[in-house]
Amino acid sequence: MQLNEKTCNEMRIRFDYNNMMSEFVGEEGIPRELLLANKKLCKEAFDIVQKNRGKDMMGWAQLPYDQEEVVEDILKTAEKVREKFKYFVVLGIGGSALGPIAVFNALKHLHYNDLPDDKRGGPKFYVEDNVDPERMAALLDVIELDKTCFNVITKSGSTSETMSQYLIVWDILTKAFGDKAKDHMIATTSASKGNLIKLAQKEGLKTFYIPDGVGGRFSELCPVGLLPAAVLGIDIRAMLKGAECMDKRCISSDFATNPAMAFAILQYIAYGRGKNISVMMPYADSLRYIADWYCQLWAESIGKDIKKDGTKANVGQTPVKSLGVTDQHSQVQLYTEGPFDKVVTFIAVDKYRATVTIPNGCEEFPNVNFLCGHTMNELITTEMNATAYALNQKARLNNTVYLPEVNEFTIGGLLFMFELATAYIGEMFGIDTYNQPGVEGGKNATYAMFGRAGYEQKRAELNSAPAKKKEYICE
Ligand code: PA5
Repeated sequence: MQLNEKTCNEMRIRFDYNNMMSEFVGEEGIPRELLLANKKLCKEAFDIVQKNRGKDMMGWAQLPYDQEEVVEDILKTAEKVREKFKYFVVLGIGGSALGPIAVFNALKHLHYNDLPDDKRGGPKFYVEDNVDPERMAALLDVIELDKTCFNVITKSGSTSETMSQYLIVWDILTKAFGDKAKDHMIATTSASKGNLIKLAQKEGLKTFYIPDGVGGRFSELCPVGLLPAAVLGIDIRAMLKGAECMDKRCISSDFATNPAMAFAILQYIAYGRGKNISVMMPYADSLRYIADWYCQLWAESIGKDIKKDGTKANVGQTPVKSLGVTDQHSQVQLYTEGPFDKVVTFIAVDKYRATVTIPNGCEEFPNVNFLCGHTMNELITTEMNATAYALNQKARLNNTVYLPEVNEFTIGGLLFMFELATAYIGEMFGIDTYNQPGVEGGKNATYAMFGRAGYEQKRAELNSAPAKKKEYICE
């Protein structure tokens, strides 16, 4: 793929928010004057984001520009992994897993792992983002250890789930390969914090670093996501270029030209008018895990109980993942007729990577025959438009992000657009977009219950919690 201005234009992501406006959905919609009245808020949010780019936890904003050296190293390492291994397994959770899952599913064959070796053209790929013992046992059943490379990813280097997976796998590797175990493990972690870096140094593991200013859910475009993507043969430079082009489009606070700002301010206004739920509904199987990734980004970044100035917040839209057309036959009933508490965001694809025609041969059944001769491409797009229409008819807010195609470039752009939108809306709410005390609360309670040193007080606190009443348990 050529990575120039022409690509930026041809692969331009469009954002259509007509159906958010009262002109199209009636009183539930956003009045034009209200949107215009929020220009100042957009400018304020934009200015803070611009001022803080590259600083503190906004290191992610510079990722499209400052990684040439590490990209070289990633590509060299990925090439070796691709030559030597048949399986590549990511051990990680949350922001250290959802990006790699989303990008893999978006950009590789939809049945990639089932393809024969010569058609797959790279190692089989697994992301282990849970500590379900059955899943770990199942993984060990399907991989061949001597042909497997593991990539343990944790920014903090201390997440219980990831560290326990690491310990299990490292034990198996050292028992099987002794000194050569290190050839089967790559670490991606903070250079300065946590335990994984110390373990990686002790064991001599090849290590990639997660920059300090890049939090988990903003990390797909750093080695967290770039190494797995490169191992899969994905053009990571095109992903970064797509992000850069999106960034360069978002150079003003004007929501008429900045799609990330438009998305943020519309969700912000809608939230203020009772739309507590943000449904992300791609009309492409390849993008279903982009919705998962978005859910973490939106939930963990905006769901906060205090503002930066210390006042009470308790804000945040609940993100929900949905898949078109599949969920038209489950969730859409609720979206159309349930409470007026949702904004539905469709992700549409102009040009799918395959065209499948519905054959003729059903002439005697006109109620089926109407499908014949059309393509599935037409059908899926028509169904999305029809669903948007049905939502409009019932005064339900919806908007659409259009991708010209699903490719490295547009995926890089899409991720960056949602990251910027998250940064903007965080500033509109006045909260700290980049912390996650609620997640850490659970992490700390786990450490305490498992007897980790330094968590004695927490353990005492947990032990003194009221005992459960038997009367509230159905046995
Ligand atoms: O976005 C975040 O910061 C979190 O979701 C983390 O990614 C998640 O908790 C995993 O953390 P770590 O990468 O430190 O293991």
